[in-house]
Parts: sequence; C-alpha cells; structure tokens
Amino acid sequence: MDIDFLKSQLEDHDQSQLLWYWESLDKDSQEKLYNELKHLEFSNINGYFKQAMEDLKHASDKIDNLLQPLPTEVCGSVTGSSPEELKEYNRIGLEEVGNNRVAVLLLAGGQGTRLGVPYPKGMYNVGLPSKKTLYQLQAERLLKLERLAKQQTGKHCTIPWYIMTSEHTKQATDDYFKQHNYFGLEKENIILFEQGLLPCIGFDGKIILANKDKVALAPDGNGGLYRALRKWNILEDMEKRGVTNIHVYCVDNILVKMADPVFIGFCRTKKAECGAKAVEKTVPTEAVGVVCKVEGHYQVVEYSEITVETAELRRDNGQLTFNAGNICNHYFTLDFLKHVSQVEQENQLKHHVAKKKIPFVGDDQQIVKPTEPNGIKMEKFVFDVFHFAKNFAVWEVLREDEFAPLKNADTAAKDTPTTCREALLSLHHRYMLDAGSKFIHSDGSSLSDIPCAKKAKESGDCQKSENDDQFNKCEVSPLVSYAGEGLEDLLSGKKLVPPVQIVMGPSDITPSIIQNVTANGTTN
Ligand code: UTP
Repeated sequence: MDIDFLKSQLEDHDQSQLLWYWESLDKDSQEKLYNELKHLEFSNINGYFKQAMEDLKHASDKIDNLLQPLPTEVCGSVTGSSPEELKEYNRIGLEEVGNNRVAVLLLAGGQGTRLGVPYPKGMYNVGLPSKKTLYQLQAERLLKLERLAKQQTGKHCTIPWYIMTSEHTKQATDDYFKQHNYFGLEKENIILFEQGLLPCIGFDGKIILANKDKVALAPDGNGGLYRALRKWNILEDMEKRGVTNIHVYCVDNILVKMADPVFIGFCRTKKAECGAKAVEKTVPTEAVGVVCKVEGHYQVVEYSEITVETAELRRDNGQLTFNAGNICNHYFTLDFLKHVSQVEQENQLKHHVAKKKIPFVGDDQQIVKPTEPNGIKMEKFVFDVFHFAKNFAVWEVLREDEFAPLKNADTAAKDTPTTCREALLSLHHRYMLDAGSKFIHSDGSSLSDIPCAKKAKESGDCQKSENDDQFNKCEVSPLVSYAGEGLEDLLSGKKLVPPVQIVMGPSDITPSIIQNVTANGTTN
C-alpha cells in the first residue's frame, strides 16, 4: 500500500476526508479501504460532480421548443397491423432466433431500493399460484421460444442470456441460478457480468463514506451497460456466437416478452439498428418518459422536461402527439452496440442526477441515516444511446399485454407485487378465453367471461362480483405457451373451474390442466 501517494492524490482532488478514520482502522480495514480508493478516478468523479450540479440548476428548464414527434414511417403498432403483418413479423423474428442470431440482455444491476428486499429483484415471487419468480418466468419463456423457433426452422437453437448485475446483485444471482439448475437452460448460455459503481457525493462535492472503511458506492445506472460491455468483452462473445440482434430489457417487467419475435421482425423489416417498444401514455400527465425526437435525434424525454401544454398536444386523430411511453424494452443490432459502446460515444452519455438520502459516518463514528437528501447519485441511462441512431423503429404494444413493472412494495398504490400478479393472471385468463375455454362454478353454473369492474361491484350493479377473485387466478406456464399461442387443442370447448393452472407435464411436451386448485395447492 502506497498510502503517501494516495494521500497526496486525495489532497490534490480535495477528497482528504476519505482518510479521516484511517488511523482508527485495523490492518484489514485499512487494506479494504485502500483497495476501494485506489480504483476511483478522482479527476473524472469531480468532473461528473461539477457537471451534475450544473444540470441540477437547470433541472426545471423545459425543452418543449426542441421536441419533434416521431416520423410516422418509423412507427408501427400491434393494433395497427393486420394479422398477416403480425404473422410475418413473427416469422422473421423466429427465423432469426432459429438461426442463433438473437440474444437477450437483461439489466439487473439496480439496487431495488423501493421494493426493499435484501435480494435481487429477479428472485422475487409476486405470489402467483405457481410461486414462480421473475427469473423463472423469464427462463421458461426463453426455453419455449427456442422450441417455437425450432418448430419453424427445424434447427436446434440457443438464445444466450446476458445478465448485467452489480456488486449488489451478482453473487446472489449467480447462486440462485446454480441452485435452480439454470431452470433447464444450458449454464454456458447464461452469462453474468458486472456493471461499474460510482461514489455518492455530498452537495459540497465530497465523496461520502458509508462506513469508516467503505465509500458510499452505487451502480452507475442501467446506461453503465455500455462500459460494462466493453470491460467484460461481451460483444466479442456475441460475435463469436453469431448473434446480430439483441433484445435489452429490465428485470422488473413481469410481462416481458423476451426476444419477442414480433418486435424483432418489425425492427428488421424497418431495417432499424435501434428500436424501442412503447405503450400509449394513459393520460397527458402520466409521469413516464416518451420516445420522440429532439433537435433531429431520437431521445427519451422525461415528463419533467416538458410543460403540461406540450404533454397535452394532440394529433388530428385525437391521440397525444407525444404518446410513446418508454418501457425499457429495446432492440439493438450488434453493430450498433459496438458503435455506441466505444469510449468516444459512451463518454458523450451524460449522467442523470438524483438527490438521495445517503447514510454516512457521523462525527461520533456512528452511521447516520439522514431524513433529508444529503447528496447525489449519478446514473447513465440505457436509452440515451438512441441519440446515435440513424435508423430507428418504435413498436407500440398493449400495456395490458406487455408491461407491468415491479417497483414498489405492496404498501404503494402502483407497480407492486399485487399489480404485477393481477396483470399476469388477467393476461393468462384472456389467453384461455381466446383459446376457446369457458369458466364455470364447481356446481356447473357458468361464470361470465368478463370480471366486474371494481366500481360496478361497489355500486351493487354487478351480479357476479363474487367471481372476481377466481378470474384473477388463471396461470399458463410459459413452457406451454410463450404468448397465448398453441392452447386451442388443450382448451377449446373446455369448461373450467377456476383457479386454473396450465402446466407442462407429465412429459415435457404434453401440457395438462389443473383446475380448482386451493390455496395450499391441492385440487378440489
Ligand atoms: P430502476 O431505475 O427502476 O431501479 O431500474 P431499481 O434498482 O430497479 O429500483 P430502485 O430505483 O432502486 O427502487 C430499472 C432497471 O434498470 C436496472 C434495474 O435492475 C432494472 O432492471 N438497473 C438500474 C441496472 O441494471 N443498473 C442500475 O445501475 C440501475
């Protein structure tokens, strides 16, 4: 340890407070802190901080004048496409998958502070009848998609799954997949890598100590992806495998259609190097980023960056002018990823700043948990590379089919385990109805197809209010159906007593129906 050199470095960068407790540390702690500090690039960090504070000054500035709507030729939607077009996109996407040209890239390095569990979000079980976690659902969707692609192309194929973790999630994620035998996927096709961290900084520009021997560090945002791709040679690995299309997504969307062939087929048809899935904004004031153009470049603009007047603008057909709500579901070609991951491009992505309550060591050497924000975290965002895209595509999907994120604990009103569970079970209920099944009570009397809305139930207008809970308990294993397809043979004309689970088994190609399952898993 060259402590004198470190000391002088810290002095040069006005960060000497990081060694305040040095003399009181034992040898191991000194070594730990030294190793952490040795890797920090103080000059860069101070530069980021300066820029961040400048950005904070302009946080309320609006950019309405710079906004341009998306050109219609880059847009497409599920509802605006004919069944033939959707079938063709699906065919193109499956062809890519079948030829081993598709990979999925999961952003799973976040700390999940709002959900507040001490393990990675992907390991969360939202309380489905099957008790499957987000990771298990995702693994099974991949397995099923590989089988569907094989059916179309006749070729055995693999969709490599790249998972970006961080110091906070790597070990637990690794252990979890091992414990579950990779959910039937090949171990070598699940590639974990780690994103970088950045120190949290007080409003005075001083890096915060979380502990006497530990700097307060946080992941550098999901846009830390590009740096991490470089560091871990991930793009070389993709190239070796022949991957040319990459689907990037967030861990917390329970409805995510991984490597969605329709989305891939659409982006390829548009010859896009970069694409985004979007959902229509519900109301002008919904706090969601919108995909649009800013001064000629594609960008996601946060709700806070525009005025309500701009958010309320409408086209002739009544739709909001800026209505493409970003759901962090992106398509990239390998060439595009290679380009934007170069140092030159990556350095141009700015850090977004968030004021946070950051625990720190107080004067009495105890940890203080502040009640007000005392510093900032800096993060890059994955979608900021849209700026570099020349050929872009936006694919609008139905929110109820594709987007239900897990952000908060059940004490919150939205994006909770409950809303995620309900979204998935309601989608699967629709899959079963579409496949031709009917739902009945255990005495044989029929259940209406559409559950009562809460309001009708409260006002007493709804006769069937007792059925709502049952409707919300229809689950289809992803091993049986990726997106509602292939259920007709099993379900058409069937009268089912909910709760119903469609599972794979007894063999791994024969699905079966489990009806009227009680809370403890037994069948009545
Ligand atoms: P969020 O911004 O919702 O953050 O991440 P989070 O960590 O899940 O939750 P909070 O804000 O702490 O409550 C959106 C997606 O980006 C990933 C997350 O894992 C999630 O899939 N992410 C976020 C990263 O991969 N790295 C990061 O540094 C931040």
